[in-house]
Amino acid sequence: MKPKVLLTHPLLPEAMDYLASEVELELATREMILPRSELLERIGDKQGLLCFLTDTIDREVMDRAPELKVIANCAVGVNNIDLKEAWNRGLLVTNTPEVLTEATADLTLALILATTRRLVAADRFCREGRFRGWQIDLFLGQELSGRTLGIIGFGRIGRAVARRALAFNLKVIYHDPQPLQPALEKELQVEYRELEELLRQADIVSIHASLRPQSYHLISRDRLELMKRTAVLINVARGPIVEEKALAEALASGRLWAAGLDVYENEPEITPELMGLDNVVLLPHIGSATYETRKKMCFMAVKNLLQGLRGEPPDNLIEPF
Ligand code: GLV
Repeated sequence: MKPKVLLTHPLLPEAMDYLASEVELELATREMILPRSELLERIGDKQGLLCFLTDTIDREVMDRAPELKVIANCAVGVNNIDLKEAWNRGLLVTNTPEVLTEATADLTLALILATTRRLVAADRFCREGRFRGWQIDLFLGQELSGRTLGIIGFGRIGRAVARRALAFNLKVIYHDPQPLQPALEKELQVEYRELEELLRQADIVSIHASLRPQSYHLISRDRLELMKRTAVLINVARGPIVEEKALAEALASGRLWAAGLDVYENEPEITPELMGLDNVVLLPHIGSATYETRKKMCFMAVKNLLQGLRGEPPDNLIEPF
């Protein structure tokens, strides 16, 4: 008998067809939002769950699914899943690391360039018919060469950003709970800094940490105060790492020069004050959104799920920490 699997939202079609050929598949919804009641109702008799970062998988969901064995998240971040609860029950939890590293690092550089060179405001200016000719001081921005990039969270994505940054002649400093060995720092041409020191020194601060209780509001109102007035903040990791209201105020008052955001504290809601500001670039959580990467993520999540259901160790099992 094929195992029963709940897929909360569609995968890309090739991966969804493959999954449907291997398991008894129920797709919870084709809508953007899966009502909680639907999730709770449909999970009941399933052995496998393939879900996304928009689905909250907590104790209540697990309580409703006595036969559940595997939770395969189609994302690298797993803050939407109560890991401790899952591990206490012996459930396997998997994610989709590595395949999205390069795409996410690319988007980070896109945001760094878009904010420092004011691309979105300049585009809007043209579309509004306001471009009347070359001017010496039109849309002056900040040059990257020689400036300092501070990377918070120096895992795979942080390092991929650092590699790109060196090509722009940026000096790279980083902060991470686990600093690298000096030899590796030398090889990667990066230097460790304490968080506060990094915030004071960096011209661009880019966040690549995972969301855990320790990183909630890591960039708080007080820490935003430490940044240079000319600094730029980039967040492609998770919204709640930044105190979004305080960030909006800092941008509005000119306390901070600009920000580039792909994630929000209460996604998909965006703090209304940010919407009217020209010095912030707002993206709809598209860090990994390339055809290549999203296809790999889908197949990876399916493979992890099938491995777990067959009793094999999934390639991307998240071990208890
Ligand atoms: C995207 O944010 C992911 O965690 O994959």
